[in-house]
Amino acid sequence: MTSSQWSSGYVTDITYTHGYYNELNIQRARLALIQAGYAAPEITNACELGFGQGVSIAMHAAATEARWAGTDFNPTQALHAQGLARASGADADFRDQAFAEFCERDDLPEFDFIGLHGIWSWISDENRGVIVDFIRRKLKVGGILYISYNTQPGWAAAAPLRHLMTEIGANLISPAGGSTARVEGALEFVDKIFATNPNYLKVNPAIKERFDGIKKQSRSYLAHEYFNRDWHPMYVADMARWLGPAKVNFAASAHLPDSVDNINLTPEQQVLLKEIPDPILRETVRDYCVNQQFRRDLWVKGGRTLTPLEKVEALQALRFVLTMPRVNVPMTVVGSQGGAGLAEAICTPILDLMADFKIRTIGEIETGLKGTIGFEQIVQALVLLTSVGGLAPAQDTATIAKAKKRTEKLNLHLMASARSSGDIGYLASPVTGGGVQVGRFNQLFCYALKQGRKTPADWVNFVYQWLSAQGQRIVKEGRILETEEENRAELLRQAEEFSTGMLPVLKALEIV
Ligand SMILES: C[S@@+](CC[C@H](N)C(=O)[O-])C[C@H]1O[C@@H](n2cnc3c(N)ncnc32)[C@H](O)[C@@H]1O
Repeated sequence: MTSSQWSSGYVTDITYTHGYYNELNIQRARLALIQAGYAAPEITNACELGFGQGVSIAMHAAATEARWAGTDFNPTQALHAQGLARASGADADFRDQAFAEFCERDDLPEFDFIGLHGIWSWISDENRGVIVDFIRRKLKVGGILYISYNTQPGWAAAAPLRHLMTEIGANLISPAGGSTARVEGALEFVDKIFATNPNYLKVNPAIKERFDGIKKQSRSYLAHEYFNRDWHPMYVADMARWLGPAKVNFAASAHLPDSVDNINLTPEQQVLLKEIPDPILRETVRDYCVNQQFRRDLWVKGGRTLTPLEKVEALQALRFVLTMPRVNVPMTVVGSQGGAGLAEAICTPILDLMADFKIRTIGEIETGLKGTIGFEQIVQALVLLTSVGGLAPAQDTATIAKAKKRTEKLNLHLMASARSSGDIGYLASPVTGGGVQVGRFNQLFCYALKQGRKTPADWVNFVYQWLSAQGQRIVKEGRILETEEENRAELLRQAEEFSTGMLPVLKALEIV
């Protein structure tokens, strides 16, 4: 078979980026669901459809006690994902099957969680049908579906730009150069068209800025986002119609800042939305208020709503941990109404309490604050601090202990890979049950520590040997550092910063 025979028009000659998506982290999904008033099930079996390079699924297979199964029909990507699973020793089932083949399998369990990130808008109706049928048959009653997709009205002005780029790519650019040439050629030609100041630009002036942003993005991301045969943004109401046969109901956004109305909606919009009883119409109107272009939805199959008492108890039992140096936690959060400062009077005492890196339940945080802040305000602050990356929900102690054996092996593999590549900017934490952003040099400093190098100066010697052996030099503020002295000095600066900044965090997250 040639790739055109198995790819269904999907880009396959250029592999996808190595992203980690924490919306697929089941601890975060639990937080979003409970916050929205739904019971969150225990996750024993989980599935990710279209896992790309498999960074998310491999981290989740290593860092949780759930058994993960998944597929991506690109064999290069499936091989990469399998390599990560092998490195951790997780009992995972990662395949290179097309959705139609994977979903027909009779040896798969029923799943408590099915996730698809960046898939739904880029596949055919036929494949969407396959996935809905899979959810209908294979999502357990009470189970969670996470699904993200391009939506409207946020794409209303830019959809014609995508159309233009794909048409140019398909009809003007020689296929001989593959996807990279197609993307480059299309970008160049759109530039030429825009230079003529077409009425499309006059009516939609913001498109110029958007296009300038697109030109700066990685070519592999652009190839997959814009140049597939299929690309269909979908209104949430159409999504609800598609998912009807799978018997799931919309429960919450997996994008945590969405749960905080004040940063996304004006007071008038908040009042208006409260008047709308139908949840899908409410989401529709909300999408217009915020001009939504990408939805990250959690749907539940027969989800059980919590009584107010149950909700408080479920929230009180959730555990949190600090996930970045206390001083680095951003004190602003960006919603659709722009950036808004976090309430200092509430967030500062919480961060001060959590600065010792102890894992605490919300109940314990409440006690630690000695009644100075109300429960609802604490919960909202924790959601916001989680959404800016300052805190994360933590797994229970027994799960952390079991997962640690696997995450240690996966992390060692990733740290070793960082000697030659900066592709995967994450390590797995058994505490958060998922990935944590750790850049290439910080991974290498961790690797040096694991190899018994004790001080930042030792780490620099260790890291520099790999850089120099491969003729690599550090780029700082857009300038290549040419001499060994300059490179070592920059590495030492970063190593010292790491030693007092991220290192204590990574220790608390049981990554080093
Ligand atoms: C935009 S990428 C998203 C990948 C990943 N979920 C992420 O966000 O990093 C879409 C992925 O779906 C896979 N894919 C597309 N159509 C598929 C099909 N019919 N069966 C299996 N995988 C498919 C592609 O190979 C690609 O890796």
